[in-house]
Amino acid sequence: MNPQRRPLVVGNWKMHGNRPANTELLAAVAAARPFGADVAVCVPFVYLTETAAQLAGTDIRWGAQDVSAHAQGAYTGEVSAAMLAECGCRYVLVGHSERRQHHGEADELVAAKAQAALGKGVTPIVCVGETLEQRDAGQTEAVVKRQLAAVIRELAHCAAEMVVAYEPVWAIGTGRTATPEQAQAVHAVLRSQLQAASGHGERMRILYGGSVKADNAAALFAQPDIDGGLIGGASLKAADFITICRAAR
Ligand code: 13P
Repeated sequence: MNPQRRPLVVGNWKMHGNRPANTELLAAVAAARPFGADVAVCVPFVYLTETAAQLAGTDIRWGAQDVSAHAQGAYTGEVSAAMLAECGCRYVLVGHSERRQHHGEADELVAAKAQAALGKGVTPIVCVGETLEQRDAGQTEAVVKRQLAAVIRELAHCAAEMVVAYEPVWAIGTGRTATPEQAQAVHAVLRSQLQAASGHGERMRILYGGSVKADNAAALFAQPDIDGGLIGGASLKAADFITICRAAR
């Protein structure tokens, strides 16, 4: 953490949840306010309207987990940035490794999605991260820089408006967290890249994601270039998510 940047903790529900469970979870998180960090939940599309209604009047924000690169048209199954904006989304995840892996999303598509979101005033949370194979081959830095460069190029002078999330693929859902030092090293690389490209790297937020839990969040957030977290599994358990949100201050 660095006092120049307000921490941000985002829950990524992935494809989990149902109405009763969501209501209970959101009520518990809302009741635990105030937090010393910005807090948001990225929920499945179908729950956006209900989430918006339940969180109205709180300072907890909500967002989606994907967005179309297209503005509108014959794109069956896709959801546009304008639709997300209409649902009051503050954020949208783009380039999550599960989209890159299972849906073949390449850097250029991720960049186009980030651009589409920003164009409608929805802040893209751009996810980057290396696989275990890439880490073992010493390619971590090159991979994350390439992924981020594509988005910086597309957003040009608006690049400073995005949030970046470093999520090493080998740490997602595996219980194997990057050590605070491993994460910090990559965050520092990303911040210099953002600084060089936009001149605003020092005020941009870079989140860490990958097996962040109630018992390791504080150590990760204590690193100077880790400005909060993108939380998967632990964001579905109210007590754990609240502990993580409180660890970011
Ligand atoms: P886990 O916290 O479950 O490892 O997931 C991380 C993630 O992918 C958040 O986007």
